[in-house]
Amino acid sequence: MTGALNPGFGIYVHWPFCLSKCPYCDFNSHVREGVDQARWRAALLAEIDHYAARTPGRTVTSIFFGGGTPSLMEPATAAAVIDRVAECWPVTADLEITLEANPSSVEAGRFADLAAAGVNRVSLGVQALDDRALAFLGRRHDAAEALAALEVAQRHFGRVSFDLIYARPGQTVADWRTELERAASFGTEHLSVYQLTIEPGTRFATLAARGELDLPGEETQAELYEATQEILGAAGLPAYEISNHARPGAECRHNLTYWRYGDYAGVGPGAHGRLTVGETKIATRAHRAPEIWLERTEARGHGAHEDDPIDAEARRSEMLLMGLRLAEGVPLARIGEELGSDLDQLMDRAKLDRLVRGGFLALDDQRLRATSAGLQRLNAVLASLLG
Ligand SMILES: C[S@@+](CC[C@H](N)C(=O)[O-])C[C@H]1O[C@@H](n2cnc3c(N)ncnc32)[C@H](O)[C@@H]1O
Ligand code: SF4
Repeated sequence: MTGALNPGFGIYVHWPFCLSKCPYCDFNSHVREGVDQARWRAALLAEIDHYAARTPGRTVTSIFFGGGTPSLMEPATAAAVIDRVAECWPVTADLEITLEANPSSVEAGRFADLAAAGVNRVSLGVQALDDRALAFLGRRHDAAEALAALEVAQRHFGRVSFDLIYARPGQTVADWRTELERAASFGTEHLSVYQLTIEPGTRFATLAARGELDLPGEETQAELYEATQEILGAAGLPAYEISNHARPGAECRHNLTYWRYGDYAGVGPGAHGRLTVGETKIATRAHRAPEIWLERTEARGHGAHEDDPIDAEARRSEMLLMGLRLAEGVPLARIGEELGSDLDQLMDRAKLDRLVRGGFLALDDQRLRATSAGLQRLNAVLASLLG
């Protein structure tokens, strides 16, 4: 069992390839003509062995195939990864195995084989239910194809989530309400709703710099956020994290491990990890370029840069940065366990009290959490708490 006090141990596996690059996306994703699946499979397995040797005695609670577009992986590759994880570590009986999928008909055709490989949860990148918005977002599917893929996914996997992007140029609160109410009617147990962010280096960043993206202003953004909470709350999918909504009990356990500041191994190009080795928590980070990662892994068994030990100060910041995203907040007992100190040793009590009085944070004898007002400006809250 995992829980706020036992955050679990996850394995993240990054598949860095996509059929095309979406104009908003700054993930480590690349378009390549041909991918040698056998070579990639062997390298992923080698890196799993490497991390298993570094984490004896751990029990794996989740595997997450992220990307890029891991639904482009051959199901045999996913099966080999899952089998190797189970050979390398003890795994829990209810091991959660999630795969991110693009909702096209080609990928839906692979769902049966991916389910047979052991995948038991998919997260579909639907992004919008409106064809014009999908074209604007550079997606290769239209709404009908996405909904058909959602139906196939619901047939093959016990657990299905999908992603939507809101606060798109020109989007009104009324449009979003209609779209979201429709999204909530499809019976998924989990929905991720991301506010469109303009990431440096993307095509949207170029358009925004030229003044060609008419993004909603702050006031509309706040209204969109509030409408999201209201509609999904009423649909039985309350937010358990800033952008993630689920039926209680249907939260993504793998992502909860990150937010609860548990350990995870990051496998594949650009993957990050957090591992406790002896008394030290270390950050691992793999080479981002797929070809460099592949060559390094083939040559020496892993594609990671040197380990980065996380000092006490950074550990405190990371833990609060992640934990305050969650509705449950950060249990004070976890702070003691992870950092060996109590709240007063950790932070300036006057700053904390000011944020509590301002209505941005809430503190009781069990936990520290962000209020709804705090969640909407979490970066600023953290900056004044930790600065
Ligand atoms: C790694 S991507 C998902 C994988 C899959 N390739 C896809 O596109 O469906 C994770 C999710 O992050 C969200 N996302 C990525 N970039 C974003 C941005 N700039 N603003 C808002 N959401 C974003 C999208 O909803 C996307 O589905
Ligand atoms: S959003 Fe998904 S499909 Fe689009 S480029 Fe990023 S990872 Fe690839």
